[in-house]
Order: sequence, then C-alpha cells, then structure tokens
Amino acid sequence: MTQWQKSDWRAKPRIQMPEYTDQDALRSVEAQLAKYPPLVFAGEARRLKTQLGAAARGEAFLLQGGDCAESFEQFSADGIRDTFKVLLQMAIVLTYGAKVPVVKLGRMAGQFAKPRSAPTETINGLELPSYRGDIINELDFTPSARIPDPRKMLQAYTQAAATLNLLRAFSTGGYADVHQVHSWTLGFTESEKATRYRDMANRISDTLDFMNAAGVTNDTAHTLQSVDFYTSHESLLLEYEEALTRMDSTSGNWLAGSGHMIWIGDRTRQPDGAHVEFASGVMNPVGLKCGPTTTADDLKVLMAKLNPGNEDGKLTLIARFGAGKVGEHLPRLIQAVKEEGANVLWVCDAMHGNTIKSGTGYKTRPFDSVLREVREFFSIHRAEGTNPGGVHFEMTGEDVTECTGGVHSVTDEDLSDRYHTACDPRLNASQSLELAFLVAEELTQARMARKVAS
Ligand code: PEP
Ligand code: CO
Repeated sequence: MTQWQKSDWRAKPRIQMPEYTDQDALRSVEAQLAKYPPLVFAGEARRLKTQLGAAARGEAFLLQGGDCAESFEQFSADGIRDTFKVLLQMAIVLTYGAKVPVVKLGRMAGQFAKPRSAPTETINGLELPSYRGDIINELDFTPSARIPDPRKMLQAYTQAAATLNLLRAFSTGGYADVHQVHSWTLGFTESEKATRYRDMANRISDTLDFMNAAGVTNDTAHTLQSVDFYTSHESLLLEYEEALTRMDSTSGNWLAGSGHMIWIGDRTRQPDGAHVEFASGVMNPVGLKCGPTTTADDLKVLMAKLNPGNEDGKLTLIARFGAGKVGEHLPRLIQAVKEEGANVLWVCDAMHGNTIKSGTGYKTRPFDSVLREVREFFSIHRAEGTNPGGVHFEMTGEDVTECTGGVHSVTDEDLSDRYHTACDPRLNASQSLELAFLVAEELTQARMARKVAS
C-alpha cells in the first residue's frame, strides 16, 4: 500500500466544496496557510482520543457543542466567553448525573464551512449560489457576496487562532473554577420557571461543600480550577484542512492542525469520496455523522477506512436521525458495529434531524423534539446493551430566540426577536442548561439500571 498523502483527496470525487474562480489567489492562500503554525498540537489530539476511548467504554461522557456556523461578523470575546461558560455549566450538571468525567469539546475555532441542501437559493425570482459559511462566501443576498473567495480562509485561520487563544486562557486562568461555574448555575435555578432543577443543583452544592470540608480545596486540586477543553469542526473545506496538516515529529503521523477533532458531515460521507479520503489519513479523533440514509454496509466500509487499527477513541459515530426515527435506524447500525467488532463512541446529535420550518417562516427546532431524540437514543442503547457515550448540540451562550420551547417557552412568534444564527437554529443559554439537567436525569437512570443489572 502506498503511503497516505495529505493531498490524496484531490483525486477523489468531491461535493459540497466551492469552485474557486481565482486559482492564483487560491494557491497563494494555500501556500500562506501551509507556513502558519498549526492551531493544535499532536499530544492534545492524542489525549482527546484517550478520553473519547474512555467515553466509549462508559468511563467518561462527551459533551460537544457550539455554533452551527461561526461568523466573522458576530466574532467577539464575550460571545466566546458566554458559550464556553454554558458548556462548563452543562458539563458540571452532566458530571453529576453520569458520575464520570465529562469531555468538553467545542464546535468552535474552525466551524466555518457549511454543506447545503441546495446549490442555489432563490429570493423574489433572483437565483444566487447558496451561502456556504464565512470561510467560503458571505450571507448577504447579492451576487458579489456569494462568490467564493479563497482569501476568507486566512481570516478564518486568524479568528480560529484568536478563539483558541481565549479558550486556552479561560480553561487554565481561573475562570473555569468549578465553584464559580456552579454558582452561575444556581442563578439559573432561581428563576421561577427553573425551580424544578434546584434540587439537583443543591445536591451539587452539597457535594462541593463536602469536598471543601474534606480538604479537596482549590490549592490541592488544580483540576477543579482548570479544565481540558477541545475544539472540533466539520472537515469540509479540504484546501484549508490540507494546508494546516502537519507531520507530528514524535510519531511520524499526520495531524490535522485545524482542530482537535474533525468530523465528516452527513452529506459528504461517501466511502470513496474526498472527505473520507482526507479524514482516513490523519491521527486526530474523527467523527462521522450517521443519518437515516446511512446503510449498514456503508458504515462497515467507513469504520474500516476511518479506524483501520480499531483504536480506542479514534472514531465517534454521531447519530442524527430525528425524534421518532431513532428506533428505526440506530439498532441496525449498532448491529453493524457489533458484527465488525468495531470500537466506536456513540454520540447523539439531537439537532440535525429535528429542523422544521415554523409557522412564522423561520427554520427552528422544538426543544421537545431535541429532548425526545436524546431519550430515544438512551433507551435504545439500554436495550442493546451498548453505551450512550455523549451528546452533541448546536448552542450558544447568548440569549437568542432560534429554537422553540424550554422553560422560558420561546414561541413561533418570538423567533423574530433575536434570530441571529448564520445557519441552523441554536439552543440559547437557558435551553442548553435545561437540557443538561434533563440529560443528567437520563444518565442517573441509566446508571441505576446498570447497578441493578450487575
Ligand atoms: C452540522 O453539524 O452542522 C451539520 C451540517 O450536520 P449534518 O452533516 O449531520 O447534517
Ligand atoms: Co448545523
């Protein structure tokens, strides 16, 4: 077998990628990016892989979340801080339910390129190319804004580097102290409508008080003050990915330097396509979205290509079937995994199968459908004797109105108030936290069921 090269994907059929008209500009951007430092380090990707391996065995739980699409215009320190803060709050609540460490993985610092269901969009009779994410073209509905511009990759790199820099500072600089993060959550449960979560929050407070009293203080437990936080994005724009791929000098393996984990989307998982080819050669943990059209045969081929050594933590299967459809699809894919004896981590993306158009014309996701899909995911894993190893959400720390429902009951009519997403609708801060409480209840039940069974 010939050695994998980072440019091998170029010989494979590609879809969902832009046709750049200015090839000279493209080459110059690629050359520039190839000289820039990678954003992540091989040792970090290896550590994440180890932690995902633990999640696959039920010894950890993965929380993956962030924007559907990061935006150049909405880029701000406050936005990053708020999303990071909510992810940490969710993680504490989930840790309490799961009683295992929660691996925190942002859809951040690189989540810029979007696959689209149609190549063009028509408004009032004008047909233009679809928006494909800020790394490719612009959301404005004008002919010039929709032309793919390779120079946007440089801006995406810069924004990803600045985002990661801030995340690293927040993770280790004291901001992530568990006591502080929990005090924010207590604030949430004081709201009149969220009182039903107060009991669990109080039990977390008691546990923290006990740890303090027992001498597990900030001074002795560095781990309570800092967190491991990782980044991930869909590896869609392969020119960007290739340009940031580096040889790890200690192992001789290739690292996708654009983020700790990369994933392959539901539209670009053709076993012989460019995206699978690229992801098959890097040492990073890789995610694979599995939807209603994923066949058991394709999944078997994909597992062999993406994790040829059947390594622990290497491959995460991100199930996104939609509420009411998990029972039809998850068991047949779990069966395929069992037949191959494959090591995988199963994660539930409860967003992408639940997008609907609201009565008021906005793309939205009902909170109840999101929760229902998570519950179905847990119950099927329980029936199959396999591990529900994590959850994947599109969320933001901002107070947006993009998904309906939740304790503050966002209605169809409210959607127009603060609908800011550049792509899919996200859970807002309070909906995210509420979901964490509800998933924690599921985790507690799953734990109890295992205890009874053993
Ligand atoms: C996404 O995660 O934003 C996405 C497009 O998901 P999927 O590929 O599962 O549709
Ligand atoms: Co999305």
